[in-house]
Amino acid sequence: METLLQGKRIVLGVCGSIAAYKVADLASKLTQAGALVDVILTDAAQRFITPLTFQALTGRPVSTDLWGVGSGLPTHIAHVGLGESAELLVIAPATANTLAKIAHGLADDLLSVTALAARCPLVFAPAMDGGMYEHPATQANVASLRARGAVIIEPVVGRFASGLEGRGRLPETRELLGHLRRVLGQHMGALRGRRVVVTAGGTREALDPVRYLSNHSSGKQGYALAQAALDAGAEVTLISTVAGHLPPPIGVELVSVSSAAEMEAVVLARREVDVLIMAAAVADFRPASAQSYKLKKDQAQPQLELVQNPDILAGVGQMRQQDGWPRVLVGFAAETNDLHTHASAKLERKNADLIVANDLTEPGAGFAGETNRVTFFTRGQAPQPLPLQSKAAVAEQVLAWVAQQFALAKDAPKHYT
Ligand code: C5P
Repeated sequence: METLLQGKRIVLGVCGSIAAYKVADLASKLTQAGALVDVILTDAAQRFITPLTFQALTGRPVSTDLWGVGSGLPTHIAHVGLGESAELLVIAPATANTLAKIAHGLADDLLSVTALAARCPLVFAPAMDGGMYEHPATQANVASLRARGAVIIEPVVGRFASGLEGRGRLPETRELLGHLRRVLGQHMGALRGRRVVVTAGGTREALDPVRYLSNHSSGKQGYALAQAALDAGAEVTLISTVAGHLPPPIGVELVSVSSAAEMEAVVLARREVDVLIMAAAVADFRPASAQSYKLKKDQAQPQLELVQNPDILAGVGQMRQQDGWPRVLVGFAAETNDLHTHASAKLERKNADLIVANDLTEPGAGFAGETNRVTFFTRGQAPQPLPLQSKAAVAEQVLAWVAQQFALAKDAPKHYT
């Protein structure tokens, strides 16, 4: 499991909207990821869902009443403390009424008092029926919250409980979680202010308009790396050959490519980035010429002539000797034999800082699965084998290693807009 949410103090404010049932799932997922979730329900929220639901899911007391007497301190005083100690305050679903109150600094219930006392990032996920979200009054409140630095997770377009259609539905849990991770990462991540490019998936080398040569790479390790870079607060571009097959991490810039040549062009156009992580399984060869029409089986036995693809990583590694771009260069090596010899040779030949190598013949270290067993090969140090773990955990360790390089070099991020 990823570590970003572990031990994080999150206050979840729930308002009175039918979408309140959806955030029970959010509270559960946050808790499962290790966060300490303190839920506050408004009066209206309790018409839709009970405190007991959230208490059971989070294993923590749920607060509803500004004037209650909880564990000694009156609730309105205890919640100033809660607001101050929270690392993230998320209000989901946020109704037009609560948005208006907080935009104007009103504090007449426990949630609005806590929001005023909070010193952490504030995230609102508005959800409301009819045209309420698009009403100029709501939009003005949203704009003023944004101007003060709050993050607004835009509601999605769809069908409302009333039967009307429009913008106002709460996004699904996966999306809400992705936004919360993004906000936490940008607030406290070790790679804040850095730009990271990750490549993912096996390239597809066209034979004709319907067929291609490729490999078994699923892209999962690359997607996990992109998520880990986002968690660390970086701006992330994911150059993917499997864009339609895996859900992209929330907040990533996704560029869909197919062949090695396309991938190379996109990588080389990103010369401003700080870190390049080449996790893609780039095909070493491509058909010498791709036919413009579909090859027919009744044609004479086709002959396949292959030519070598550019080695993107090696090319970047060479350029790097002249201009120092990118600051940190990471490659992957999937081997079936002599892991140490091949991975060490790649570290040199590709002028990389880190080669993440795995032996494909080992159990749990493969293309499609959820786990990986890798060894880090770095300059001047003994190879560092890591245990069998999830691809997400491997990704976190790679990004932690990257962040350490900046820290060791006392290299401060450049500011960008
Ligand atoms: O040489 P090999 O293919 O084993 O090297 C693997 C590493 O090199 C990976 O990081 C892969 O993304 C990169 N690579 C590349 N261009 C190629 C072949 C591999 O960038 N044509």
